[in-house]
Amino acid sequence: MSGPLVLAIESSCDETGIALVEGGRRIHANVVASQVALHAATGGIVPEVAARAHLRWIVPVLEAAWEDAGVAWSDVDAVAVTHGPGLAGSLLVGLNFAKAMAYVRGKPLVAVNHLDGHVEAAWLLDPGAETGPEPVFPLVALVVSGGHTFLAEMRDHGDYRLLGETVDDAAGEAFDKVGRLLGLGYPGGPAIMQAASAATTRNVVFPRAWLGDSYDFSFSGLKTAARRIIDAARAEAGLRGEPEEQLPEAVVAELAWGFQDAVIDVLARKTARAARAIGARSIVVGGGVAANRVLAGRLADEAGALGLPLHVPRPGLCTDNGAMIGAAGCRRFLAGARAGLDLDARPNLPLAVR
Ligand code: KG4
Ligand code: ZN
Repeated sequence: MSGPLVLAIESSCDETGIALVEGGRRIHANVVASQVALHAATGGIVPEVAARAHLRWIVPVLEAAWEDAGVAWSDVDAVAVTHGPGLAGSLLVGLNFAKAMAYVRGKPLVAVNHLDGHVEAAWLLDPGAETGPEPVFPLVALVVSGGHTFLAEMRDHGDYRLLGETVDDAAGEAFDKVGRLLGLGYPGGPAIMQAASAATTRNVVFPRAWLGDSYDFSFSGLKTAARRIIDAARAEAGLRGEPEEQLPEAVVAELAWGFQDAVIDVLARKTARAARAIGARSIVVGGGVAANRVLAGRLADEAGALGLPLHVPRPGLCTDNGAMIGAAGCRRFLAGARAGLDLDARPNLPLAVR
């Protein structure tokens, strides 16, 4: 083993994830039970339903992870768990499960900030790889998820300085809301990306909120504009407000493209400007929205223009998973962080900044 082996538990939202990660980089197992189908029925997450689904699936997910990894409890150096931010009921399931394992097996418990996990996912290696390029400090980290959107400067593992964050909605939240308005179902992010890829006309321009030269973001105005633009398109198509009446596919595609382009434009330009301003040597991106191929492509162009390497995890490591918690947990463990068995869930835990 090169570095500690961490058993990691993630249950902050609607994915039950358990992973075994070595040295903060090498994935021995990464099993995720997604609740997407469950929440699609209600068009969004019902917290109690999410918590009960974690309770139902956490043991089978653990068993699948052991099977994939081919390691034993005696190889494990620590148990890492997300203690926030996230939904309280969801966090409590994973947290209590991790505590029980740490207690019974006599292993150290390491508390992980979910947002740190999204950033550390950039260090995870491809399956089967023993080594690979890693992000160089100082760097700029962009996290774009369903609950968070921020830019931070990072000078070492766990050493964050917040540059800017959303003043209202998160980017993923905006994707989910506009996806619903376009009749694309839940979650909106992947559905909008898919619909936008079919756009043959790109004439509808959505507004961008630049907020001066700050590194903050705002997506609520864009969401309101989207509602107005979609209503106008429905009126033009002669739809009389019945929700089941769908806009023509070509119109949905063009509007999906326009919305996606507006979000990506702001994210990419602010990230590039931040990288230049702090003298970054690399750029990392994480969170569910980073699974968007068009965003990754645009960021690659910006990074290329600055001569900087860009690190975007593969899509399954952008959305919530246990491996990212294992990656962050390992760094915390090496830094000496140990949580007590009285560790509490922190639904509003902020990113730890200096
Ligand atoms: O990181 P994540 O799995 O959960 C949170 O920590 O919030 O992010 C989920 C978010 C959802 O809003 C989802 O719509 C968005 O990530 N998302 C995407 C894509 N895949 C997931 N947004 C845009 N394009 C995608 N391909
Ligand atoms: Zn997340």
